Amino acid sequence: MSNGFSEAEISRARRDTPGCEEVLHFNNAGASLMPETVLDATVSHLRLEARIGGYEAAGRSREAIERVYDATAALIGCDRGEIAVVENATRAWDMAFYSIPLGPGDRILTAMAEYASNYIAFLQVARKTGAKVEPVPNDEHGQLSVEVLREMVDESVRLIAITHVPTNGGLVNPAAEVGEVAREAGILYLLDACQSIGQVPINVGTIGCDMLSATGRKYLRGPRGTGFLHVRRDVLEDLEPPFLDLHAAEWTGKESFEIRRDARRFENWETNFAGKVGLGVAVDYALGWGLEAIWERVRTLAEDLRALLGDLPGVEVRDLGAERCGIVTFTVEGHAARDVSRRLSTGGINTSVSAPSSTLLDMEDRNLDALVRASVHYYNTEEEVSRFCETLERSL
Ligand SMILES: Cc1ncc(COP(=O)(O)O)c(C=O)c1O
Repeated sequence: MSNGFSEAEISRARRDTPGCEEVLHFNNAGASLMPETVLDATVSHLRLEARIGGYEAAGRSREAIERVYDATAALIGCDRGEIAVVENATRAWDMAFYSIPLGPGDRILTAMAEYASNYIAFLQVARKTGAKVEPVPNDEHGQLSVEVLREMVDESVRLIAITHVPTNGGLVNPAAEVGEVAREAGILYLLDACQSIGQVPINVGTIGCDMLSATGRKYLRGPRGTGFLHVRRDVLEDLEPPFLDLHAAEWTGKESFEIRRDARRFENWETNFAGKVGLGVAVDYALGWGLEAIWERVRTLAEDLRALLGDLPGVEVRDLGAERCGIVTFTVEGHAARDVSRRLSTGGINTSVSAPSSTLLDMEDRNLDALVRASVHYYNTEEEVSRFCETLERSL
């Protein structure tokens, strides 16, 4: 065994991933390389649509399309009726957030490393309704302070909405401890699991969240343009989606309609069926490896990378948190993040850049400009970690 995976399993994971022959891909937090099986299932459905017609293909592939609900439910430990499949994590999160009734003086508590799109939505709703958004300060590890959160909670708090793993680093916020506070106080809890899903084992019962948003293309290795929302059965019917159509609701009379009782009230009728098929296969593929094994390997590889980067002159690793995941961020003295990423790309290495405006509160708090983001997955290797650092050193 090597960090959750045997050597043979790593070889198989790479054989399953055609992109491994093309690039050194450390941009798994951007979009992972799809395994062949996901690609095949997605493309096969598109081909079927072209051959027999889109509606007819949906009928014939019904089982494969429906599989995505069972697979995602198994992944996070909920019921298939508590899942809505949508086009990305942002839409999943929005559909939940904009369903929550808020008024003047209502407080939303969030985290310092909150994602820009979520924060913009908070600000928009605050502007319209008179609700207030308040970030909870970090603790000494740089993660959300559960102690301060507990002190901030009172009867005016309507929502706790935090990001599990932020876009700009390895931090893993203490989601389950936050869930305990939310449950004790009876406050709605929305978790953005966009960056954690597929690398961190997630059970919504253990975490205690009411709603969870996720994307398909990142650590789940699904096709782009896919995502899902989980909403707990007990709160489902209290949340009226901001948009309704004939899939989310039924038109029952001249003056009446009835909203669906399951989480598909957050979906709409027309959708990417090939993407749904592909996402279902991607989730099953991840479940096949096991999330505990994936988590162990991803964390180990990321720690190896942090250790090697830390030895390079001028390089500073910037990840916060008591527990750190597969996302490694760093700066290089005297070199802009974009330049570093571009030079790595010339050497066949994929990374991305985290811009300050994507996590404004956190980046301003730490007085940081852009960061280079290198995000590893289980199919990456120790050899790639070494090659990455050698290429980086040579390119400076
Ligand atoms: C923390 C976080 N939340 C949400 C999103 C948005 O996800 P999507 O692009 O699938 O809408 C991202 C994307 O990078 C993210 O990092």
